[in-house]
Amino acid sequence: MTHPQTAFLIYGPTASGKSTVARQLAAEHNAVRFAIDEWMHALFGPDTPEKMDMAWVMPRVARCQARIWATCEQILASGRDVVLEMGLLRQQDRDRMQSLVEASGHAAALCFVDASLATRRQRVLQRNQQQGDTYSFQITPTMFDAMEHIFERPGADEARRSQVFSEESTHV
Ligand SMILES: Nc1ncnc2c1ncn2[C@@H]1O[C@H](COP(=O)(O)OP(=O)(O)OP(=O)(O)O)[C@@H](O)[C@H]1O
Ligand SMILES: [Mg+2]
Repeated sequence: MTHPQTAFLIYGPTASGKSTVARQLAAEHNAVRFAIDEWMHALFGPDTPEKMDMAWVMPRVARCQARIWATCEQILASGRDVVLEMGLLRQQDRDRMQSLVEASGHAAALCFVDASLATRRQRVLQRNQQQGDTYSFQITPTMFDAMEHIFERPGADEARRSQVFSEESTHV
């Protein structure tokens, strides 16, 4: 390996603009972008049970994450940066991902993407309808509320270690 590369680790609440920021960072850094939603939708979308079942979803997310990371290690070793939008809802998910990146000899750049609740609710409604570039699947109000409970906002220490992309600083 020549120089350590950077893995940008994107996190934030639902519809805060993570996929939008991920695309901007990938373009800026000539990096390869991975989004767990895209992989789940492409690989398992047609097989998804009608009734939301986390016991069905989670092992498939884990399989996708494992393959994505194995591929990222090769990309990083070959001298390119990666941008990862992997969910990372809980701080322990972010810590684990950061440790994986650092153990492979590269740098992890935490990127916290945030927007107000009202803005995010509005964006979900609009995206469900418009189904633009960053759309993967319909997010119902029930799914939105469930995610709000699972997502852990960064504490003071994690926020300090993160680059923050907020409504005020992100222009699309
Ligand atoms: N700064 C912004 N200003 C206005 N609209 C935005 C901004 N960032 C993103 N959007 C729009 O808001 C919607 C949600 O953005 P995006 O898909 O990037 O969010 P996300 O955090 O990736 O969502 P999810 O949590 O579902 O993955 C999209 O329709 C996108 O075009
Ligand atoms: Mg997204």
